[in-house]
Amino acid sequence: MFENIFKDTPENIKKAAELIQKGGLVAFPTETVYGLGASVYNAKAVAAIFEAKGRPTFNPLISHIAEVDFLKEYAAQDERALALAQKFWPGPLTFVLKRKENNPALDLVCAGLNTITVRMPNHPTALKLIKESGVPIAAPSANRSQTISPTTAKHVAESLGEKVGIILDGGACKVGVESTILDLTHPQAVLLRAGGIALETLEDFLNEKIEISDGNPNKPSSPGQLLRHYAPNHPLRINVLTPEPDEFYIGFGKCEGAHLNLSETADLAEAAANLFAFLRKADEQTEFEKIAMAPIPKTGLGLAMNDRIKRASYQK
Ligand code: TXA
Ligand code: MG
Repeated sequence: MFENIFKDTPENIKKAAELIQKGGLVAFPTETVYGLGASVYNAKAVAAIFEAKGRPTFNPLISHIAEVDFLKEYAAQDERALALAQKFWPGPLTFVLKRKENNPALDLVCAGLNTITVRMPNHPTALKLIKESGVPIAAPSANRSQTISPTTAKHVAESLGEKVGIILDGGACKVGVESTILDLTHPQAVLLRAGGIALETLEDFLNEKIEISDGNPNKPSSPGQLLRHYAPNHPLRINVLTPEPDEFYIGFGKCEGAHLNLSETADLAEAAANLFAFLRKADEQTEFEKIAMAPIPKTGLGLAMNDRIKRASYQK
């Protein structure tokens, strides 16, 4: 009935790893819930994750790693994270860390934030898949947005169907709830999501109180919790069909006079993959001090894109 479900045999894990390398989507078991994975280096594949989930916004994704060393490449050095990783990884604990300068992470994976979210899952299939792919795997839970997280391969297939190339079947997830998310970007550790590892266990280990977030990262109880997305410094005008001469014009689809085009063929996944990089490029222009962007359809991935640029344009 579900032709994209494959038992997690070594051969099938190898095939799945090849698909990740080629820019495909693979659903895989972890100890918490199934993840919908793509290479963290492939913007189009990451855009396809958002499309498959039908997410109306770009949420930051967890980068799944198999070796602690990856932290050094992506995240600013953090003693607490290293100590916690040594104790609880692989396991259902996710860190939000400051992004290291010149890190190779994609803006789309981080949703344009200056943070990177990382975990090492405690499941042999997940770890093998990451190792064989040779890249960290960006993955949210493998379900449509606003629906319950999947704990079996069949749940994934029922929720996402043909949108996933390969669903690796590793049986039911043992933990069954998502990982605990700990924000370590401030001196005070903050719990962003309760999950597989209890708050008290972490407090005991760190020997400090952990603040509990009110659960809405866009309406923080303390200012440090605000999701700070990348917004251009240059004023951004959106839904523009005719740009002014002093505006750097980012086009979409058939578009006269665009300096850069998110997707000449009006492909929303291609456009989403380019969005953050183009905003940065536009910002770096010295001969233009303003940015204008063509209208982007408010369907599919276009919804998340419009949410993002609307907020970026409000910053000024
Ligand atoms: O157990 C898990 O964590 C599973 C498995 C697949 O690893 N993954 C998972 O990912 O639950 P996801 O994307 O469904 O949930 C992660 C949550 C999202 O609500 C996201 O907005 C939040 O974590 N998040 C990620 N990075 C964040 C950041 N830098 N700041 C605030 N919230 C963040
Ligand atoms: Mg989820």
